[in-house]
Amino acid sequence: MKNLVVLTGAGMSAESGISTFRDAGGLWEQYPVEQVATPEGYAVNPELVVRFYNERRRQLLSVKPNRGHELLVGLEDHYHVTVITQNVDNLHERAGSSNVIHLHGELTKVTSSRQPNNPVYIKELKPKNYEVQMGDLAGDGSQLRPFIVWFGEAVPMIETAIDYAEKADLFLIIGTSLNVYPAAGLLNYVPAHVPVYLIDPKEVAIASGRPVHVIRKGASEGMEEFVNLVCRPQV
Ligand code: APR
Repeated sequence: MKNLVVLTGAGMSAESGISTFRDAGGLWEQYPVEQVATPEGYAVNPELVVRFYNERRRQLLSVKPNRGHELLVGLEDHYHVTVITQNVDNLHERAGSSNVIHLHGELTKVTSSRQPNNPVYIKELKPKNYEVQMGDLAGDGSQLRPFIVWFGEAVPMIETAIDYAEKADLFLIIGTSLNVYPAAGLLNYVPAHVPVYLIDPKEVAIASGRPVHVIRKGASEGMEEFVNLVCRPQV
């Protein structure tokens, strides 16, 4: 089977009811990004940050995967599908995608404030424990922090993601403004002969100027079109 590598962003989950970041009314308009998504913000007011991610986790309980997520799962009958997501929600997994790489961490996990990327301290929360309190401690005695990659922090999964991008036979981008690096640079590792598709209702600037087959639609409708394009029996 050929390798289909998919890069997803907040627009993938928009139809499930999760706000994007940079659209009008997006999350970064409602919350000061430097307070809730940087190590400096966490150092100044950890309580605010813990509360912000508790809210994001609570939201997971009231949303479900949309048709776009489901259609991606269906493509596993035709391709070896790897989903590289910037999203911290668990909707790809809940839809049934088998190979999901989270570049920016996962809401359902918490870790040590001192050594956030040490696997020994990364812990998966059960929904009944989604509310983290100040004073809840990681194995090394530090405050439990969200397992989220904040602005200014390293993105450990990028190397794995690059390996997949280099081996893609088909590359698909869904619902990301491609503003945030290194995720936005993944396309540069996709071999030049590999077809690239992009699903987004708005225009997205591709820095490399590389030709891209644009499907100007939301994730669900756009995925319907994509599936028809790449799975239709060739006559
Ligand atoms: N279907 C598909 N795409 C959509 C939809 C939809 N229904 N609605 C909006 N979009 C598109 C927008 O047009 C935009 O291009 O989703 C994109 C969302 O862009 P951003 O809000 O910038 O989100 P994203 O690119 O995922 O952000 C990257 O920034 O703050 C960080 O860590 C956060 O992972 C996030 C990263």
